[in-house]
This record gives sequence, structure tokens and C-alpha cells, in this order.
Amino acid sequence: MKILPYQPDQSGMAYSVGTTLDRFIKLKQSDFPFASGELSQLLRDIALAAKIVNRETNRAGLANIGGAFGQTNVQGEEQQKLDVIANIRFMRALSKGGEVCAIVSEEEDAVIDLQNNSGKYVVAIDPLDGSSNIDVNISIGTIFSIYRRKTPIGSPIQEEDVMQPGTEQVAAGYVLYGSSTMLVYTTGFGVNGFTYEASLGEFFLSHPNIEAPKNGKIYSINEGLEKSWTDGIKDYIGFCKSEQLSARYIGSLVADFHRNLLKGGIYLYPGTQSNPNGKLRLLYEANALAFIAEQAGAKATDGNQRILEIQPTSLHQRTPLYIGSDKMVDEALRRIARHKQIIPTINL
Ligand code: AHG
Ligand code: MN
Ligand code: MN
Repeated sequence: MKILPYQPDQSGMAYSVGTTLDRFIKLKQSDFPFASGELSQLLRDIALAAKIVNRETNRAGLANIGGAFGQTNVQGEEQQKLDVIANIRFMRALSKGGEVCAIVSEEEDAVIDLQNNSGKYVVAIDPLDGSSNIDVNISIGTIFSIYRRKTPIGSPIQEEDVMQPGTEQVAAGYVLYGSSTMLVYTTGFGVNGFTYEASLGEFFLSHPNIEAPKNGKIYSINEGLEKSWTDGIKDYIGFCKSEQLSARYIGSLVADFHRNLLKGGIYLYPGTQSNPNGKLRLLYEANALAFIAEQAGAKATDGNQRILEIQPTSLHQRTPLYIGSDKMVDEALRRIARHKQIIPTINL
């Protein structure tokens, strides 16, 4: 019998499809000493739910799942049918795996206790981000943060398991349902991006070790709200214009963030008169993207402190968000600080 060692084909006849997300997660498990594989399984569960949501968003125009659901969420925002569907899909995926004990979701008023006290992880999720763009076929996303619970495994979940600052995240990521669907995540060892190959049903590593440009030429802000900006924000956006930067604003945070992460840019959602803390939520929007930004060499702040260091006090808490290329965020911070009101203290 003749035995030959396998020689990978070098002819270039068939291009390599590369590394699947599953394989990559498995390879990276060794980054964690004593890893039990549960975080890996949890990431795989999220990826599976993302594939299902991807399928639903792709056929939304045909399947009568576009449009409003007819109810508002706890924040008084009108829920779209796909918001509700995505929430169901992720809830199911996270509850079946057994790794998670509690979930915070944009679409749920309260913390959802999965009654699985042996679960090690808490997940905060925005199941569908950018819902105003669903019905017009523009990119939308999913954002997730994963925390290790603080209380002992086996005991009922407590507030401290959920109200953790972003620095405690063990993993975070987003899915972008765009011209191609991507999953980008970090476990604190850099950021990697995967593109979905629908015919194979797999995410493949397409953007290894993403590094954000230190500077950029794009600024992203809802300029319609200019009237209610502080002088600091007006100053910074005036500066962007004087530098003739490009304005790009999709209105889906995931999509705006992703573009700026790859190309270089800054995204700003400041406080307004009606929403002094802005619109975006700390637990399931800002924290995950801040973790990814920092891991890619970019920055995220609320104008006063690192997003990741904010101690949450409520589930659906909002925060101003300035996130993106290092130098741009620094310049924005400089101009915000310059205009901060100095209240003189009078010693009598
Ligand atoms: P969501 O659809 O999860 O409620 O999030 C919408 C957010 C975010 O994706 C986007 O950047 C922002 O709302 C846009 O807000 P404006 O329409 O006020 O600009
Ligand atoms: Mn959102
Ligand atoms: Mn949402």
C-alpha cells in the first residue's frame, strides 16, 4: 500500500475559504487558562441566533415582518416586529445553552432571570439596533456584552451580577446585517471580524486583528439636533467642518461604528436638552462598542470619563457617547472641556 503525506494544493485553482468562526473560537479558547469552554459555547450560541436573525432580516420585505409591532418598550420607543423577533431569537439561544444565568435586553423592562443558577455568565443585548432603518433596507445590527457573574455559581442572581462596569466584560461583539453580514467580537485579546457566507451557513475570518486608524476623516452625528448641542460639541463639529471632514450618519449605531472603526472616524451622540444623557444605552450599546474600540486602539468616552469605567445604576441607563479614532476623540474632549461651565466657589 502506498501512503502519501497530504500536500495542500498550490495551484490556485480553488481559493481557500479560510477559518470558520467555530474553529477560530476553539483555537482561541487556549487564551484563557483553565477555560471550561462555556464562553466559547456561548459565543457559538450567539452566532447561531445571528444567522437566524440574518435570515429574518433578509426576507423581512417578503414575510410581512416589517413595520411596527404595535407596542412600545420600557423606554417608550415603538417596537418594530423585527425588534421583537430578534429578541425572541437571542433569548431562546441564550436560555438553551445553559451558560447564561441572566439577560438584560433593550426589549425587556426587567432583568430576565433564566432560573439557571449554574450559569456563569450574564449577557446584555440590543437584539436589533437601528430599528428605524429596518423598513428601508438599510444596515442594522445586534450588540452584545458578556460578563462573568459576581455571586457564587449555584446561588440566585443578584443586582451586582448585572450592574457591572464595562471594564468587567469578558467578551463583547456586534453583528452587522449589511451589504454583507459580519460578526465582530473581542474577548480582550484584540478584535476579529467574520463575514457570513450564506450558502455555506458559516462565518469566516475576514478581518483578523482589526486596528482602528489613529486619526480619520469622518464624523458621524445627528446634525438635526444641533440646536440642543452644548457649546463644546458645536465647537468640535465646527472644527470638523473647517477641516472639511466628511459627514456620514446612517442612524444605525452598529453600522456607523463599524465604518469608522475600519476607515477612521468619530461617532458622537451627545446629551440634548430633552435627553441630557443622550439616547444610547450604557449596558447594551455603549459598553460593548467601547470595549471593542479600546481593543482596536480607539477610544470611547462620555465626555467626562471612559465609558468602560461608568458604574451603572439602572438597567436602561443612557450615556452620551463619543467613540472612534484616538486623535479625534481627544480633540473632541479638548473642545468639550474648554467650554465646560466653571462654577466659581465663593468662600465667605
Ligand atoms: P435602537 O434601534 O436599538 O433603539 O437604536 C437606535 C439608536 C442607534 O442605533 C442610532 O445610532 C441612534 O439610535 C440614532 O438616533 P437618532 O435617530 O436620534 O439620530
Ligand atoms: Mn440600539
Ligand atoms: Mn434595538
